[in-house]
Amino acid sequence: MERLQKYMARSGVASRRKSEELIATGHVKVNGMTVTEMGYKVSGNDIVEVDGKIVEIKDLCYLAMNKPRGIISSANDEKDRKTVISILPKELRDCRLFPVGRLDYDTKGIILLTNDGEFMNALVGPKSNLEKEYVGRVEGIFKKEDAKKIALGVNIGDYVTRKCYCELLSIDKENNSSSVKVIIKEGKYHQVKRMFSSIGFPVKRLTRTRFGEITTEGIAEGEVRYLTPHEVKRLLVQAKEVKAKK
Ligand code: URA
Repeated sequence: MERLQKYMARSGVASRRKSEELIATGHVKVNGMTVTEMGYKVSGNDIVEVDGKIVEIKDLCYLAMNKPRGIISSANDEKDRKTVISILPKELRDCRLFPVGRLDYDTKGIILLTNDGEFMNALVGPKSNLEKEYVGRVEGIFKKEDAKKIALGVNIGDYVTRKCYCELLSIDKENNSSSVKVIIKEGKYHQVKRMFSSIGFPVKRLTRTRFGEITTEGIAEGEVRYLTPHEVKRLLVQAKEVKAKK
């Protein structure tokens, strides 16, 4: 048995808080009866409905994908381009999976997929402290001082980024470009590209090399592997870990 709002959040209907609102405002029925009580518990045998639509709890699935460039990281695309769901093996395409956060169309690397709404919210919600590591190929010759600027936080227009880790990996004088590693905990729209651009280094290519402790090691481009229960637990623990912000 579990609390109704948790059950709803797990199914991906809404976040736990939004589910509480839906319960309190009379949108939720259990076995045909409207339930507004917050501590109400349900099991897999109960029929839960939100606004008349049955909430299905499915087997929970957690995958790590090595996303190639040129793939949309959403469940579907209005322009019919390939998505992280459409490139899955056939047997996984109907599991109602969705990506945990986003990677740009032209960004490659590690991205998680799940059908557990609560897991997704914990990992990419505003309170998450999960580390995301990126390696960017930027235009121009990056210097150690530039890495310091990024590490201290930069203004990306509508937001000043939190302190983070930034390291110059190599420079390529011939091609006037540099390879730079950055580890951030937030996930604002185009954050890494905007961080580098804000100090004069447009990003030519971007790869996410790590999400929490999960990397693409052993996963060919475009392929997936299942996360182990231990990895799922670790991700949830790390997302909750609070370390000094600045
Ligand atoms: N930051 C970006 O700019 N793009 C991504 O795809 C991910 C993080």
